Amino acid sequence: MSYGYFDDQNREYIITKPNTPLPWINYLGCEAYFGIISNTAGGYSFYRDARLRRLTRYRYNNAPFDFGGRYIYLRDNVTGKYWSPSWQPTQDEVKDYSCRHGMGYSIIGSTLNQIKAETLYFVPLGETLEIWQLKVTNLSKKPRKLSAFSSIEFCLWDAQDDATNFQRNFSTGQVEVKDGVIYHKTEYRERRDHFAYFACSEKVAGYDTQRDTFLGAYRSWDKPLAVEQGHSFNSVAHGWAPIGSHHVKLNLKPGETRIVTFVLGYHENSKDEKFDPPQSQIINKKTVRPIIAKYLNSKNVNTAFDTLKKYWERVLGIYQAKTPDKHTNRMVNIWNAYQCMATFNMSRSASFYESGIGRGLGFRDSNQDLLGFVHMVPERARERVLDLASTQLETGGAYHQYQPLTKRGNNDIGSDFNDDPLWLIIGVGTYIKETGDWSILDAPVPYDNKPGSEMPLYEHLERSLKYTLDRLGPHGLPLIGRADWNDCLNLNCFSDTPGQSFQTTTNKDGKVAESIFIAGMFVLAARELADIAERRGLHADASNYRNAAERMDGTVHKHGWDGEWFLRAYDDFGKKVGSKECKEGKIFIEPQGFCVLAGIGLNDGLAQKSLDSVNKILATKHGIMLQQPSYSEYYLNLGEISSYPPGYKENAGIFCHNNPWVIIAETRVGNGNRAFDYYSRINPSAREKNIDKHRCEPYVYAQMIAGKDAPTHGEAKNSWLTGTAAWNYYAITQFILGIRPTYSGLMIAPVIPTQWKGFFVTRIFQGVLYNISVKREGKGNNVRLTVDGVAMEGNVIPKPQIGTLKVTVEAILF
Ligand code: BGC
Ligand code: NOJ
Repeated sequence: MSYGYFDDQNREYIITKPNTPLPWINYLGCEAYFGIISNTAGGYSFYRDARLRRLTRYRYNNAPFDFGGRYIYLRDNVTGKYWSPSWQPTQDEVKDYSCRHGMGYSIIGSTLNQIKAETLYFVPLGETLEIWQLKVTNLSKKPRKLSAFSSIEFCLWDAQDDATNFQRNFSTGQVEVKDGVIYHKTEYRERRDHFAYFACSEKVAGYDTQRDTFLGAYRSWDKPLAVEQGHSFNSVAHGWAPIGSHHVKLNLKPGETRIVTFVLGYHENSKDEKFDPPQSQIINKKTVRPIIAKYLNSKNVNTAFDTLKKYWERVLGIYQAKTPDKHTNRMVNIWNAYQCMATFNMSRSASFYESGIGRGLGFRDSNQDLLGFVHMVPERARERVLDLASTQLETGGAYHQYQPLTKRGNNDIGSDFNDDPLWLIIGVGTYIKETGDWSILDAPVPYDNKPGSEMPLYEHLERSLKYTLDRLGPHGLPLIGRADWNDCLNLNCFSDTPGQSFQTTTNKDGKVAESIFIAGMFVLAARELADIAERRGLHADASNYRNAAERMDGTVHKHGWDGEWFLRAYDDFGKKVGSKECKEGKIFIEPQGFCVLAGIGLNDGLAQKSLDSVNKILATKHGIMLQQPSYSEYYLNLGEISSYPPGYKENAGIFCHNNPWVIIAETRVGNGNRAFDYYSRINPSAREKNIDKHRCEPYVYAQMIAGKDAPTHGEAKNSWLTGTAAWNYYAITQFILGIRPTYSGLMIAPVIPTQWKGFFVTRIFQGVLYNISVKREGKGNNVRLTVDGVAMEGNVIPKPQIGTLKVTVEAILF
């Protein structure tokens, strides 16, 4: 079955059936005000923090899955028939339904009863509001008398509290209605200086602000009483569940189109100008009125929409590729890059699978996300790096997460995920290579946000490495701590109590369990820091780090190799994990990908052997599984990994985040065919042909695809907020296409399939536009470069002279 198609020209995915296998969503906003919107207008909005400043209410895991959102109802006032042009919630048999998810906007519409209606939803740049621009057209030959009703359910700000603390919340809700604008002001009378508003461009015939009056007793959003009877109740919410609904009358001549704009926004007043008059409890609306007025004018809406489109054109224009594969092109040029920006903005907080009330920003996650977005928003990446580093502990360890509003480390989850600190080195290296901004290493950064503890960022990186070296186990391999990249391999946990959190429960001291994954990562990070040190003239540091990397490489050879592949770990009893000696979980993907990616075993055949084992045992047509065989029972000494039924999540699911490690590893051994084949297996656009199996959005990556031991092998779950976005983007753009920022310039090192004749890339790098054409002359990965017509040694293009705006590069592969 097909549910839609890509429109690459317009950078849209067009959904043509409303009942997609799962809600297929999009994000609105890219600065401070955000919304999630599904293909049937479901979802919610928030300001900055999805938990603490939630504007609209959402009930997760509903039946139907996605219920509640930005719903508009139309009503024929002659026949009394009403429907929703976004299909939900009334679910009428609409015609020509379409949802166009684009870059920061969605347009949802359909036709029914000869009335065509579509709504454009977006957040203008620089504003803390969202626009719903409704266009209604009378396709019939007679004049029509219609009503339109808007609807939104306000959340009482703290989404966690809103969903649980009813004894209080049923009494606190407050609204004001003035000049057709509905103001939601719960708790404004006390400590909040912010309120939400919902405005409409037309003169309203009525409004409702109390949910149960609008809906009627025992009714739901599919048949609100106000809509059924054709007029609002003008209800005012005192407690219970404040909503916003406008009623607008539309009389349309044959062929006529009318535009109605709704504006839903967030606004703050200063403490001393909260009320008007000052002694009253009435919101001072003077500061917000001009903003509302601006966006109720459709000319301004159109301008703002154009500006948003230009913004995305500029951001995506930084890397554009033309390859022989259309799936690669649309992921690289549009959707994968766009998803990287979503992970930048949301981290792992708000999607349809992350509730927005749980995790803050992950230390490991956010450092990795940088790989995918740093070139698009370098200034904001700098801020992100410094925020992350400021939560680092003096030991060199890191809080596993921090809260975006306070920028403080999260005590609930704490520290001791022993891979965390090393990601900071990867994050900072990535940032410097992209921007050339070496000054960041001198930025004073505190430990644990403690004033007075500031040290140059460079020292933070040194402590990160030292953290691993201070924690080596019996084989000289890094101790795993609570867990490494695989949060679910909990070797010191030994949890036997139902419901106990694997992530936070007290662990053993952990002086035995070691991780070969961290060893691989250490080698990569130590070499990275050595490169950095060298360029700062710190040659002694550089050689120390290189030696440490060499030593660890040697230890991996000695104690981390199982004969055909790299071991995964040693458990708390000193027994092997991920070995042919194990009954289950004999081979894991992480050390194969990461050790090779770090360069271990490239010269002595181990790398090739390890990758061949991955190919033989872990690769399926839906992607590469995390381990094999899956764990068929719960193992106390392994923890959460064995808590998942076989084939799902970390228990032998295809964890898409680590597939690119193998892809990059394949490029390191020069196997472009395999690298690209693996890339294509999990490329969402390429998987669209199997959408009834895949089920998630075909335009973004999901965290996981069920592995071969699962009854639903090939089914994707948990789309959007995953490190998969950044890593796949990094793998295809920098390693397969091979256009790679380095400390000394732009490297051209493609490792593409043998049958590709070449490709073309435009890349803006440190302010210079590189037009790069790659042509294949032989079957190898050797590169011969001509830069602006002059043949060049090597494959790194040095920075051109200041003032150069454009460089033309011809690369011959042979
Ligand atoms: C999931 C992991 C996740 C962890 C922390 C586990 O249940 O399987 O993917 O990282 O929770 O939230
Ligand atoms: C999801 C987490 O966000 C990520 O950091 C982790 O590495 C994976 N789960 C694997 O467990």
